[in-house]
Amino acid sequence: MRPSRRAFVQQLFGGAAAGAMLSALGEAVEPLKAGRRADDEAYWRWIASQFLTNPGIAYMNSGTRGPSPRQVIQAQYDAIRSYDTDRLSYATYVDSTETRAQLRARLAAFVGCGADEIALTNNTTEGMAFGTLGLDLKPGDEIIYTNHDHSSGAQPVNLAAARFGARAVVVDLSDPRYHPPSSADIIVEAFERALTPRTRLISFCHINYTDGCCLPVREICEMARAKGVLTLVDGAHPPGMMVLDIEDLGCDMYAGAGHKWLLAAMLTGFFYVRRDVLDRVWPLVYSGPVAGKTMYGEPAQDSAYNRQAGMAARYEMRGSKNFAAAASWNAALDFHETITPQAIEARVRYLAASARKGLRAIPGVTVHVSDDETMSCGLVSFTIDGVDVKEVNETLWTRHGIYIRDVSHPEIGWVANRASTHIMADAAQIDMLVGGVAEIAGERRI
Ligand SMILES: Cc1ncc(COP(=O)(O)O)c(C=O)c1O
Repeated sequence: MRPSRRAFVQQLFGGAAAGAMLSALGEAVEPLKAGRRADDEAYWRWIASQFLTNPGIAYMNSGTRGPSPRQVIQAQYDAIRSYDTDRLSYATYVDSTETRAQLRARLAAFVGCGADEIALTNNTTEGMAFGTLGLDLKPGDEIIYTNHDHSSGAQPVNLAAARFGARAVVVDLSDPRYHPPSSADIIVEAFERALTPRTRLISFCHINYTDGCCLPVREICEMARAKGVLTLVDGAHPPGMMVLDIEDLGCDMYAGAGHKWLLAAMLTGFFYVRRDVLDRVWPLVYSGPVAGKTMYGEPAQDSAYNRQAGMAARYEMRGSKNFAAAASWNAALDFHETITPQAIEARVRYLAASARKGLRAIPGVTVHVSDDETMSCGLVSFTIDGVDVKEVNETLWTRHGIYIRDVSHPEIGWVANRASTHIMADAAQIDMLVGGVAEIAGERRI
């Protein structure tokens, strides 16, 4: 059952303070809903204080792992404790078919799709593998992907090529004109040039993990659909970073993460498959019902369990589940819905814009992501001329406690540092990042 907003605040602050905080949250949230308060530092520092990050650390790596706020951690503890102290509570409250169906419906509403089109997975990688390797492919079928894809999207394409004799067709995004692109059109055109009558699937990132570029998903999917080509989108980053409406994107499949920007437990993800292509995407690990049959080959009675054979829920039919992770999903969705996804996106964009502006102004620093908000969001990638990316990470960490990462793609000569501007960071920390980078770049010029 979903906890009420009051229960959510009580979890955050404990009994006595909860009443006062509830009205504070109410006061703070309403203007944010109208999108006016992305720069309200007092409010956002208060939100940031819900994370357990040690004082003195500026955490800017949600693109790898989004640490959970305290009530998400608490929800996992409560779920484990509930089961380990009273086994009945497991089936009743924590992980029954009904609670999973409720969670699926809730997540579907959050990301903009039908409840029958979404499965809970362990991560983005699983969805990307299901979406490519679950297809009936034949020798000579072509799959388009890009050389800025993560291994989670790219390697299943290579495996499909090895296994089925399919052809992996690379869209080359390594040219500097894509970092940042002058317009979204040049990206759509690059995909269009790769299409042939043998193309069966286009697999690509919603947001590249390398340069932070937000790809024109709707346009690419529209073009693919017109030619009868399936689309699989790697959505590791957008869920929880920006307001998401998967149906509106028009893709056939979308693999997302819960443990990054959505702030749920480690090993949480989801896989969306559009209703009318569900029967073309086979589950790869499977212990669920096969349509119309019992486990031992008799005609099956109609049941909720058997109906799942025709729903995306079948991608979940693969053994024991981490019920604590499922509990964390609900708490993470509470957190996002209370602050509102619109307000979170506005704040993420505000911090990212401030980082881009500051970094671009530093001599010797190149920012690879666009200032155009349709092509960027919360990932800010940059390089300092002549400075090794690992050295940049290390220096920012030891001098300032700033935690960013580097994103390397050695095959195509791509090396950059990357900061994630999620809500556990604040404006002063972004200034510190800019100052820290300026310091390193300045030392190199001497
Ligand atoms: C673009 C992209 N895709 C996939 C992944 C893998 O995500 P997961 O750990 O959820 O499988 C990442 C991880 O950083 C990523 O950046």
